[in-house]
Amino acid sequence: MKIGYSTLIRFSLAAAFSLLLAGCGQSTSTPQTASPPERSLKSTFTIGMSQCNLGEPWRVQMNEDIRKAADPQPGLTVVFKDAQNDTLKQRAHVEEFVSAGVDLLIISPKEAQPLTEPVAKAMNAGIPVIVLDRRLIGDRYTCFIGADNKKIGRAAGEWIKQKLGGKGTVVELKGLMTSTPGQDRHTGFREGIAGSAIEVIFEADMKWLEPDARKEMESALSRFNQIDLVYAHNDPGAHGAYLAAKAAGREKNMLFVGIDALPQEGVAYVSQGILSATLQYPTGGAEAIQTALKILKGESVPKEIVLGSRLFTKDNVATGGQVLP
Ligand code: FRU
Repeated sequence: MKIGYSTLIRFSLAAAFSLLLAGCGQSTSTPQTASPPERSLKSTFTIGMSQCNLGEPWRVQMNEDIRKAADPQPGLTVVFKDAQNDTLKQRAHVEEFVSAGVDLLIISPKEAQPLTEPVAKAMNAGIPVIVLDRRLIGDRYTCFIGADNKKIGRAAGEWIKQKLGGKGTVVELKGLMTSTPGQDRHTGFREGIAGSAIEVIFEADMKWLEPDARKEMESALSRFNQIDLVYAHNDPGAHGAYLAAKAAGREKNMLFVGIDALPQEGVAYVSQGILSATLQYPTGGAEAIQTALKILKGESVPKEIVLGSRLFTKDNVATGGQVLP
């Protein structure tokens, strides 16, 4: 095919023009959120919600809490994406939300490190970001919402120390240690039992998953004849450990403690006598929508919103648990 001289000129002019445009785009895309007046002119908003997985009841509840809070808001749409516990998929979801130009992003990240960069890119594109429950690294986000996992772990440790009379053998089934709640529930717990004669005889990363917890507990049971208590970083983990102990006919010889305290899960296990205690870990779904609305209206929000927790035991479960001081 022959290309005429005038066509060539037209091509090069067009190329130069688009280069110029791209250049302009770059110079105006310095990190900033849209100015408040610009936002408040809009009457419809789309929020992208990146959920790391929906395999556990707690995350289904989080999405439900978001939906319930968002539904009555006129002009507000929430688009949900489920990364099915796959970090790469979650990174792609964040990128898709950014290309789609959502007005705000809510993310409950699977892991801290790999999701930090895509979220920073969303911020650079002018999209405000609310990080829910698990943290990222650094401070390139608009607002973090979650309970204090170190405090919850410490409260679990102190309760266990008291329950066991300051001595005994414990199995610790940890949440995914590349996620911040796992790290904090571990550190807090160790602080809580410090100075006692409690010995952690077995610890393993069960990645927040009940089947993994069950498997790890089977190894613990095969290695140790005396286990006084299992501390699991979430209720599915504590339940998995209970099932392993039950299968070995040993569930009555030990106590089980978990975290999350969903009414239909952990709290029910406490009422049924399966768990001795669970500590509430609120989903923050409703707070995320309230905060998102403020951001979209151009109001300022705190960098951190810390949610409270409650301790449920057989003595207080009927009366709604006890608020952590
Ligand atoms: C669900 C879950 C909860 C836990 C939270 C920590 O995926 O494992 O059980 O409390 O994540 O991020």
